[in-house]
Amino acid sequence: MLIRFRKKTDFENYLSLRLPAKARLGFVPTMGALHQGHLALIQRALDECDLVACSIFVNPTQFNQAQDLRHYPRTEEKDLQQLLEVGCQLLFLPTVEEIYPEGPDRASNPFSFGELESVMEGAHRPGHFAGVAQVVSRLLQIVRPHALYMGQKDYQQTLIVRSMLRQMQAEVELVVCPTVREKDGLALSSRNLRLKPEQRKLAPQIYRHLQAARLAFLENPLAFRQIEEQQLQKLSRLPDFRPEYFCFARTHDLKLLAELPPEQLPPPREVVLCTAVWVGQVRLIDNLMMA
Ligand code: PAF
Repeated sequence: MLIRFRKKTDFENYLSLRLPAKARLGFVPTMGALHQGHLALIQRALDECDLVACSIFVNPTQFNQAQDLRHYPRTEEKDLQQLLEVGCQLLFLPTVEEIYPEGPDRASNPFSFGELESVMEGAHRPGHFAGVAQVVSRLLQIVRPHALYMGQKDYQQTLIVRSMLRQMQAEVELVVCPTVREKDGLALSSRNLRLKPEQRKLAPQIYRHLQAARLAFLENPLAFRQIEEQQLQKLSRLPDFRPEYFCFARTHDLKLLAELPPEQLPPPREVVLCTAVWVGQVRLIDNLMMA
């Protein structure tokens, strides 16, 4: 059975009255348009927790372009069906007013993420992570889970949330689960729904270029600059592709290898390769660990 809540007070009351004292509560926040990647997070939470809550909320404060927010896919009926099938027990579906009674304010940000916020997604989507932290912290205060499940596809987001949990001194375990891919390698994303058929055929090239770069890096880690440059050029030659960045970074703080002094270059097991590519009107991100 899937119990749904639209009001935060109803959800909070239910949890405080019905959650058995020692029960472990797992939480999967989402923006809906659920796919196998979300379902894998829920499945993992179901395996590790006594009760699992999911939220569906398209958070306005993390979108830095109004048209991206407008076009974000919304598939509520299908989402509900999938949540029932996977066995998720609780669903929180708040309105914008429930989460932001004072109105959504992109400028308010009680957290500080330093340089983590100024590279890659932070650099290309100003204010995005402040919005993510704003909504995830509010959701956590309502749900108060023991464990929070997020996907590695949004690698930078997982580092931001880890830092936010530290700043909140929240005793929540962050469980980062592997990226789920289509058979052809394309990382699952709700945005894939917006690709035109020709773009969808080419989109797995993003993963292929990540893999090729990984092989080249493992052969010669010091050639990282040339590898980044070559792969960026190759990606930008594909029709409708506009890569924004393709860069190697340190796994724990996303410091770019290109900006580190040679003596501080990390071993390959502490390197992640991240990219963001516009395919037509759709912006896709992906990443790959070097080890
Ligand atoms: O990854 C997402 O879908 C969103 O950024 C999240 C974590 C649900 C916050 O809105």
